[in-house]
Amino acid sequence: MKKLASFYIRTYGCQMNELDSEMMVGILEKRGLQKINDEMAADLIIFNTCSIRDLAERKVLGKLGRLAKSCKRRPIIGIAGCMATSKKEKLFQKVDGIDFVIGPNNIHQLGTILDEIENDRTNIIHADPNFSHELDYTLAKRDDPVKAFVSIIRGCNKHCTYCIVPYARGPEVSRHPDEIVNECVQLAETGYKEITLLGQNVDSYGKDRPEWKSRLSDLLARLDPIEGLERIRFLTSHPVDITCDLMEAVRDLPKVCEYIHFPLQSGSTRVLNKMHRMYTRDEYDEKVALFREIVPNVSLGTDMIVGFPTETEEEFEKTKEALETIRFSHAFLFTYSARKGAPAARWKDDVPKEVKESRLQELLTIQERISNEQMQALLGQSVEVLVEGLSPKDPNIVRGRTRDWRNVLFPGSQKSIGTLQKVELTSFAHQTFIAKVV
Ligand code: 5AD
Ligand code: SF4
Repeated sequence: MKKLASFYIRTYGCQMNELDSEMMVGILEKRGLQKINDEMAADLIIFNTCSIRDLAERKVLGKLGRLAKSCKRRPIIGIAGCMATSKKEKLFQKVDGIDFVIGPNNIHQLGTILDEIENDRTNIIHADPNFSHELDYTLAKRDDPVKAFVSIIRGCNKHCTYCIVPYARGPEVSRHPDEIVNECVQLAETGYKEITLLGQNVDSYGKDRPEWKSRLSDLLARLDPIEGLERIRFLTSHPVDITCDLMEAVRDLPKVCEYIHFPLQSGSTRVLNKMHRMYTRDEYDEKVALFREIVPNVSLGTDMIVGFPTETEEEFEKTKEALETIRFSHAFLFTYSARKGAPAARWKDDVPKEVKESRLQELLTIQERISNEQMQALLGQSVEVLVEGLSPKDPNIVRGRTRDWRNVLFPGSQKSIGTLQKVELTSFAHQTFIAKVV
């Protein structure tokens, strides 16, 4: 019987994975294992993986291959995250040296898996398609002292045709509002100033449990009065499920920040239809107009995919036009990547790689210009920044974000971390404002 004493964990992908890693750290530390930063020295290595694009998967597989070659001692290796459910036992064949596979819906079983490992069992797999409520979120061990992610709904029912998430994480399962409120109260008592409510589609929150009579806007209304909390954010929003009530909650609740991640994905209605996004471009534009009418200072962020199967040049032009006219404050831009298991993978991936890349570059150029114009227009303004930490480059500079999620650097020290500061924006570079305290 071997006894595991130390572990190294590496996280790929989205915020949901970051929170899942924090859960695993909590479970492992409670078991007495020590977290270390040197993967070569760890008894246990966990890769919390992402399947959203091919590149994300190749990164992990490459890393595993290199690790197998370079490790003198053989550590225990576990694969967690979306690759665990999307690839399952195939992972054992793909890469030598993997001892266990644990899906996002099985994190609560990490302890049992390690019991088996310590009794010399290997090739263990727990990768269930559905989430059960056995996960104790209060075990999460967070590194960040100011901001915390809080899960409110897991899984996704939307089945966008390009997306592997509904197959990797399963259907939507909301978390009881009392549990969420309790966790947020505890976080505030520990000193956390900002919470971000997480879900693949937070606007669906509570739909699966109508008896709770609690949708996202109701939940926000319960979280806003929590003493000590300064800011509340949530992501990701889906244009079909976002409600007027939610927009009004953003307007009325003082701690709820005016930045909403609200992915459009494509500017063309035909492509949106093929993506099974369930809204037309006009309907999306109407939601944006309504949001801006209700919350005039709202900033919107988007995700966009270029080179989706059959996307024509004219349809891509519509995506360009969407960026130009909607003027998002943040845009996360991707080339389409066929994911085995997602419906679109059955169609020919017919937009050549070079065309996808050049479309992506065009969008990046447009968005950079728009961001620069928006940032230029904000210069001279006084804004509120939550100080999140020291600048990695200079201990006399602190970093933080505005309510609309823009990065700011300004003079400060350790003791201002976690406080709200009024600063004047003086210049900017690379999507980050430089400011002075007012
Ligand atoms: N290819 C490219 N981008 C994708 N996304 C999801 N699946 C794919 C895929 N197969 C993008 C979407 C989503 C974001 C998290 O990742 O834009 O909103
Ligand atoms: Fe994927 Fe669409 Fe669900 Fe988002 S809403 S996780 S893109 S299926």
